[in-house]
Amino acid sequence: MFERVREDIQSVFHRDPAARNAFEVLTCYPGLHAVWLHRLANLLWTSGWKWLARLVSNFGRWMTGIEIHPGAKIGRRFFIDHGMGIVIGETAEIGDDVTLYQGVTLGGTSWNKGKRHPTLEDGVVVGAGAKVLGPFTVGAGAKIGSNAVVTKEVPPGATVVGIPGRIIVKDDPELQAKRQAMAEKIGFDAYGVTQDMPDPVARAIGQLLDHLQAVDGRLEGMCQALTELGSDYSAKELPALRDEDFAGVKAEEDKSAQ
Ligand SMILES: CC(C)(COP(=O)(O)OP(=O)(O)OC[C@H]1O[C@@H](n2cnc3c(N)ncnc32)[C@H](O)[C@@H]1OP(=O)(O)O)[C@@H](O)C(=O)NCCC(=O)NCCS
Repeated sequence: MFERVREDIQSVFHRDPAARNAFEVLTCYPGLHAVWLHRLANLLWTSGWKWLARLVSNFGRWMTGIEIHPGAKIGRRFFIDHGMGIVIGETAEIGDDVTLYQGVTLGGTSWNKGKRHPTLEDGVVVGAGAKVLGPFTVGAGAKIGSNAVVTKEVPPGATVVGIPGRIIVKDDPELQAKRQAMAEKIGFDAYGVTQDMPDPVARAIGQLLDHLQAVDGRLEGMCQALTELGSDYSAKELPALRDEDFAGVKAEEDKSAQ
């Protein structure tokens, strides 16, 4: 038991730069008190002392402003920072090393019995005020932005923000540079919209440009090989891309950017 308490305190030091010493953490972190009371409540709940379990859980809520149903399953090194206003439902399951900030709800969207609350895998971080609603899984290491409302499965490692929650994609800088070069080459920037914008047409054009870029590279290599073999095939001119052909598209882009 003391080992668990020690690792709980360590997890505060790892995740809150404001924590100064063990005594302060022991006495001034309501998130820890809520977790310890939950362990007792959960033990009572699984031993069949349901009412007593609810009473302990309710006492924890009075003391800390954090409501954890005694039936919720919580892993190790669970860290609740600040905590006020957190609600964790009966069938929620939380892995190891998960962090929640104040105002988070792990709730249900139906009144049916059975699994109706989310499962957070190891290492998930849920930002202040976020609502995660429904019996789906948030994959290991995923981050939920503050104030997001998430009602669908989140893949491991993803970051979700906004209402409704959407995954933000961070492209690797090398791919972005290549795309920019291709866009400049053909005189049309299909990426005038941000990458995380859910515009299927822009995304499809983006994919085509990536493909074009790869074909271009391969053709250049083939032409070089042909030249080395003495062929003049690659000397033939390609038809030029004319700016005027893209004028309409650019005008539309400028209009939507305003
Ligand atoms: C979602 C989060 C994890 C993303 O962190 P990150 O991976 O470092 O991402 P960035 O800060 O680079 O932001 C990426 C994009 O998402 C946007 N974004 C970040 N957090 C957002 C949020 N909560 N809601 C909406 N958009 C958000 C950013 O503005 C940025 O948009 P841009 O690419 O158009 O400029 C983080 O912003 C967050 O909300 N953490 C919770 C922290 C918290 O609750 N702290 C409480 C302490 S008391």
